[in-house]
Amino acid sequence: MSASSGAGGDAGAPADVGQLADAGAPAVGEVALALQHAAKSFGAVQALIDGSVELRAGEVHALLGENGAGKSTLVKILAGVYQPDSGTLVVAGREVTLHGPAAARAAGIAVIYQEPTLFPDLTVAENMFIGRQPLRSGRRIDQGAMRAEAAEIFKRLGVPLDPGRIARGLSIADQQVVEIGKALSLNARVIVMDEPTAALSASEVARLFDVVRTLRGQGAAVLFISHRLEEIFTICQRVTVMRDGKHVLTDDVSNLTADDMVRAMVGRELEKRSRGEQAEPGQTVLEISRLTREGVFIDISLAVRAGEVVALAGLVGSGRSEVARAVFGIDKYDAGGVNVRGKPLRKASPTGAMAAGIGFVPEDRRQQGLVMDMSVQQNVALASLGRLRQAGFIRASSERALASDWAARLAIKYSRLTDPVSMLSGGNQQKVVLAKWLSRKPTVLIVDEPTRGIDIATKAEVHHLLLQLARDGVGILMISSELPEVLLVSDRILVMREGRLAAEFTRSEATEERIIAAATGQAEKQPADQAPADGAPADQTAADPTTADQTAADSTTPPRRVP
Ligand SMILES: Nc1ncnc2c1ncn2[C@@H]1O[C@H](COP(=O)(O)OP(=O)(O)OP(=O)(O)O)[C@@H](O)[C@H]1O
Ligand SMILES: [Mg+2]
Repeated sequence: MSASSGAGGDAGAPADVGQLADAGAPAVGEVALALQHAAKSFGAVQALIDGSVELRAGEVHALLGENGAGKSTLVKILAGVYQPDSGTLVVAGREVTLHGPAAARAAGIAVIYQEPTLFPDLTVAENMFIGRQPLRSGRRIDQGAMRAEAAEIFKRLGVPLDPGRIARGLSIADQQVVEIGKALSLNARVIVMDEPTAALSASEVARLFDVVRTLRGQGAAVLFISHRLEEIFTICQRVTVMRDGKHVLTDDVSNLTADDMVRAMVGRELEKRSRGEQAEPGQTVLEISRLTREGVFIDISLAVRAGEVVALAGLVGSGRSEVARAVFGIDKYDAGGVNVRGKPLRKASPTGAMAAGIGFVPEDRRQQGLVMDMSVQQNVALASLGRLRQAGFIRASSERALASDWAARLAIKYSRLTDPVSMLSGGNQQKVVLAKWLSRKPTVLIVDEPTRGIDIATKAEVHHLLLQLARDGVGILMISSELPEVLLVSDRILVMREGRLAAEFTRSEATEERIIAAATGQAEKQPADQAPADGAPADQTAADPTTADQTAADSTTPPRRVP
């Protein structure tokens, strides 16, 4: 709970409820919004068949469902972006029709998307009040009044954000806070968040949750979407589960186990897979030596062998993705080099990297991984063009066969393989990028956050496919912020901190605690039953001896955990 909210959020409405306490606002516990039996089709695609959700003032309500279940479609109906084909929407006791986003705003509904789109050249305050700036005499915008109100709202949220700064360069987390501030300034009583945590670091998630608790304490109803069940248990009081466009259940979170939720989402029991034995790794397929990009990462040396899964762990911002991008030739580097199967990669370019046998599933898949107006099957086949080409032609039938095989393996939800990939839900787009590279069997596969945005049921399948590729001799370099994923899939774990390699662990040495300690530069907490000598210090195996000196200097860093 942030200090500035002035009262405990969990104990009903605090004394200072600010603008949320308007006369017409539903009291805590009353229904703030109810969507009943909403349906929405796009041509032949029934995105939503029976969408229902009921939000009470003062609750955080989770919306759960597999990729393509219809969550974002439901959100866009609440946002006034889509008009439902049927169904009713009741806001604060009155049935309403939202003819557009402005109508949703007027009804007190605000939507925070995963990646907000602020105007980069405007200030934070200008972004919050865009289109309705307070005016001084002479119709000049009253900057002072705007900033003062913005500052007041940030204080209420307990977030130290400067209303006068330019939006450009704000982190995604800060941009979301600006959007939440805007929602409050608009008097929103229903705040909808569609996968807000997907691209945040652990400390940013913690701060967002403080803000959400404050909103809740002030009587707002929050709809929260995430594929991470631990987040649902942390922040939500009730949950609604959807499957195949239909409402499945609504209940108190405290009445349900994680297994209950998963069963409701997938409609069956999920089989638990064991990891299975990996083969002995073969020759080195990827060798990165002393790779440096000034100010971003320094002196990175590592090797990946055929059949091996090597994880790059570390905090968001520690330079992991930047190393991957440099290896694949998207970004330039200043010193060092990359070898594939012992041959140096001469020119840093994605084409060169692909020709040498490197595959890359980027973190930002929408922008870097897909061609949005190309079809699902063309996107899947994109990386395998060489193999599918016969006498210069791509046989549509082989393209289709490849795509439909992989769509089935990854449970990609689509209506036609020839539809543009932009029609797929967010998670299904992610799966297409994975399919594109998994199907190609490159010599080296680099995957950056391979299961981000992917539902729980398919996550296990992605892990299984990565291990299968390794068994087939592919060398895999995986960046992941999810420690259970790192510990499950990798043979070796390298930890980056502030642009350098800080530690290396074998699979048997690695624990969540050790990885976190190396990633944050904090001394590792010794379990009571473990003698200090037993926990070999991470820095002894560090690839870079200079990091040992840094540990002391880092002691001012606040404690953070890797997600
Ligand atoms: N504009 C559109 N045109 C055609 N089909 C669409 C469109 N928008 C959504 N769909 C389809 O509707 C279904 C539901 O999509 P939606 O984006 O609501 O899923 P979601 O639950 O948000 O999934 P995710 O967890 O992957 O974000 C999907 O099968 C998707 O392909
Ligand atoms: Mg979605």
